Order: sequence, then structure tokens, then C-alpha cells
Amino acid sequence: MTDTKHYGAAYLSDTGNFLKHIKTQSYQPFAAVQAGVVLDLGCGTGMDAINLADMLKGRAEVVGVDHDAALIEKAMADAADRKNIRFVKGETQQLAEQDHSAAGVRMERVVQHLIEPDRTFAEVYRVLQADAPFVVVETIWNSLNLYAGLVETEQKIRNYLVDTKVNNGFAGNKLTTDLARHAFKNISIDTYCMVVRSLEEANRYLFLERIFSEMQENDALTAHEVAEFSKGLQAADRGGYFLTSMNIVIAKATK
Ligand SMILES: C[S@@+](CC[C@H](N)C(=O)[O-])C[C@H]1O[C@@H](n2cnc3c(N)ncnc32)[C@H](O)[C@@H]1O
Repeated sequence: MTDTKHYGAAYLSDTGNFLKHIKTQSYQPFAAVQAGVVLDLGCGTGMDAINLADMLKGRAEVVGVDHDAALIEKAMADAADRKNIRFVKGETQQLAEQDHSAAGVRMERVVQHLIEPDRTFAEVYRVLQADAPFVVVETIWNSLNLYAGLVETEQKIRNYLVDTKVNNGFAGNKLTTDLARHAFKNISIDTYCMVVRSLEEANRYLFLERIFSEMQENDALTAHEVAEFSKGLQAADRGGYFLTSMNIVIAKATK
């Protein structure tokens, strides 16, 4: 597993705008929270924690947790003018909260990076109050389609994303069963198709060219395969028929 970070602060802000609709859907279970603390685990630059804090202003506090000090620092700076929000540097698998104390927990595109996701699910179950909501947003990496006409190379790209790029590449596919195994109730799942119609956007949101160079460096694709696949993508882009799509799921449950 490489799990090389592809998500700097700029990337997270950029994808945040692109995924706005999905993010908004994921806040909905927290709208009924009247008091207490809602956690956004693996909060990155804190944009979802900030949106949740604005939604819960005057009622509840939001705590963003992330183990990346630089991202936490940016989140703190961006949220400086708000009172009902805090950011904490920490690990999702070892939370500071007491048992049955949290009014809700949200996680977006984090479970895919976890080496031992069960530890985090157990920790979330421990800290949540009875009947409180848990929402997980995840990428379905093996649903990536690139329409470059070279299906064997395309399959190698999907395999690389799932098996090598992140620690837990099938996280999204297993979400509902993981939640059930951890005794969560009222489990539901929805899928959203993320569509990109230019090579420039595909590079921006899905860091395609970076993935190709990384795969070549790791002998997962030959230089010839990269060149031919890139040619296919460029032809589609020039011809006005470029399409890249991938599903993102939102799983919702309660304790
Ligand atoms: C792809 S980013 C998503 C960030 C944010 N949730 C969003 O949607 O913009 C994954 C985040 O999870 C954090 N992360 C990964 N593993 C973690 C762990 N074990 N504990 C805390 N944070 C973690 C990373 O530092 C990063 O900020």
C-alpha cells in the first residue's frame, strides 16, 4: 500500500466545491440535533465542520478531528470567527470523548485511508449517544470509468486505486455491512454519480496524470500504456466526448 497523500488543503477546497451537493445531503441527519457535540472525524481543512457549526449555531458545538497538524491549523484559522466550533489533532480510532457523549458523528472520505477501520467504527459506537446519527461519505474507487477505449489499462488503473493507492480501497463497498456488524441501526445508503467532462477537470478532481506517473514509477503501467491511454483521453477531450464518472456513497445510521 502506498496511501501517498493526494489531498493537500487546495485539493480539499477544490473538491469540496465540486462535491457541494453530496456534502449538503450528508448534513441532513444532524439538522435535528438540539444540543451537545457533533464530531467531524478526518475533518481535513474543516469546511464541513464549519458548515455544520453554522447549521447548528446557538444549539450545538462541532468538533473537527484530524491527525494532520497542517490541516487542523488551516481549519482553526478558517473558523476563527465562530464560537461553536473547535478543532483537535487526533486519531479517529482513539477519540477523547466520553462514552455515550456525542450527539452525532460524520466522516467523509476517511475510512478509505484507515488501516484498521473496525477500531474507528467501534470508537464511534462508543462515543455516540443512543439513537444519535452517524454519517459516512465514501468514494467507490472501483466504479471509476474513463472511456478511453483501452479497457485492460482502465482495469489496471481501477485495481491500482483500490489495492495500492489507499489502505482500504473497498471501504465504500463494505460500509453498510460494516455498520451492521458494529450494531448500528436504521442503516441506509445512497449513491451519487460524480461526472467530469474535460481532461482538465479530471486532472483537477481525480489527479489522473499524477496517478499515471505514480503507476509508471511503481511498474503498475508501462510507459507505452500510459502514452496510449493518455492519447485516448486527449482524443476524447479534443473530440468533445470526454467523460469520466465515479460513484460516491452516503451511508447513514444511528446508534
Ligand atoms: C481525503 S481527506 C478528506 C477530508 C475531509 N473529510 C473532506 O471531505 O474534505 C482524508 C482526511 O482524513 C484524515 N485522516 C486519515 N486517517 C486519519 C486518522 N486515522 N485519524 C485522523 N484523521 C485521519 C486525513 O488527514 C485527511 O484530512
